[in-house]
Amino acid sequence: MESKKKIILTGDRPTGKLHIGHYAGSLKRRVELQNSGEYDEINILIADDQALTDNWDNPAKIRENMIEVALDYLSVGIDPDKATICVQSGIPALHALTFYYMNLVTTARLSRNPTVKSEMQQKGFDSEGLPAGFFTYPVSQTADITAFNATTVPAGEDQEPMIEQAREIVRKFNSTYGDVLVEPEILLPKEKAQLRLPGTDGSAKMSKSLGNCIYLSDDKKSVHDKVMKMYTDPEHINIADPGHIEGNTVFTYLDAFSCEDQFKEYLPEYSCLEEMKEHYKKGGLGDVKCKKFLIKVLEDFLSPIRERRAEWQKKIPEVYDILSSGTRHAADETDETLSKVREAMKIDYFKDDSIISEWNSFINK
Ligand code: TRP
Repeated sequence: MESKKKIILTGDRPTGKLHIGHYAGSLKRRVELQNSGEYDEINILIADDQALTDNWDNPAKIRENMIEVALDYLSVGIDPDKATICVQSGIPALHALTFYYMNLVTTARLSRNPTVKSEMQQKGFDSEGLPAGFFTYPVSQTADITAFNATTVPAGEDQEPMIEQAREIVRKFNSTYGDVLVEPEILLPKEKAQLRLPGTDGSAKMSKSLGNCIYLSDDKKSVHDKVMKMYTDPEHINIADPGHIEGNTVFTYLDAFSCEDQFKEYLPEYSCLEEMKEHYKKGGLGDVKCKKFLIKVLEDFLSPIRERRAEWQKKIPEVYDILSSGTRHAADETDETLSKVREAMKIDYFKDDSIISEWNSFINK
């Protein structure tokens, strides 16, 4: 039963404040999708249970970030009247579905998931020390996606293996028990520059533990200081030296965030980023000048976010209500999927007492 509605489900693990990499990679798109009016439903899941799979010994960290992540969403323009923001641990159907889906996937298949593999390496889990909860989180993520009947999952490329896994489980479920679940599709970021933003130190990814993030909640001075210390091109020593664009964090950020109007306003000697890059490559354009421009570019998008955040921070009880009512709403909605799943699996014994007459017909066979 393919649902005709267009439904979005996406989410984040609440293990830290969100940074501009999250913005470029997903939050900006979510706000656009929310405002496009093209979707019947948008659900944003704060995946605290998933966060626990590799932070089981530190639930306090997740608790600390619950309101913080909600503030990040609200300050970038997620509108609680248009999108449901909900918390995974408060949605019982997700746990039940995970348990049933576990039967539909093999450990061999799970161990081939490239995202899980690289996370295992990062976290130093070998196969002996690998927690089963962490190993199977893609199954739980399948429950997240299917419980909402999501057709569309806007996410970065690192989530592709999760969606592929979800599609396989859906097909297996539907062919085994009947057509109940909706097969989701991933919606990748539009531009290559937005796929993954490097850290300010030039390493592949922004990560809290590396201390290389610019947070959405950073004040003006922190942004300034972080940009001024940013990794550029180590071979570009004197201004006159030819410089490299490839792997140069300042230019990667400009790719992701700058627009032509900002050149007119702040750097009129170039008409666009391509012209600026050409000059840098030729030699004669200094890093400090590039960084000062980047600071202005970042401020243009961060300052309205900061203002909205300041407003929401004055009404934290309202933020709390948004989370709790969103979670209740999501719990009800996903319970419907769980009922259909149980019905298809013939384990809905107590919905009515039909099992009594079935028993009678069994013994009279
Ligand atoms: N795995 C995602 C991440 O690490 C978070 C997540 C949990 C998610 N459940 C989801 C993303 C469902 C998309 C859909 O960021």
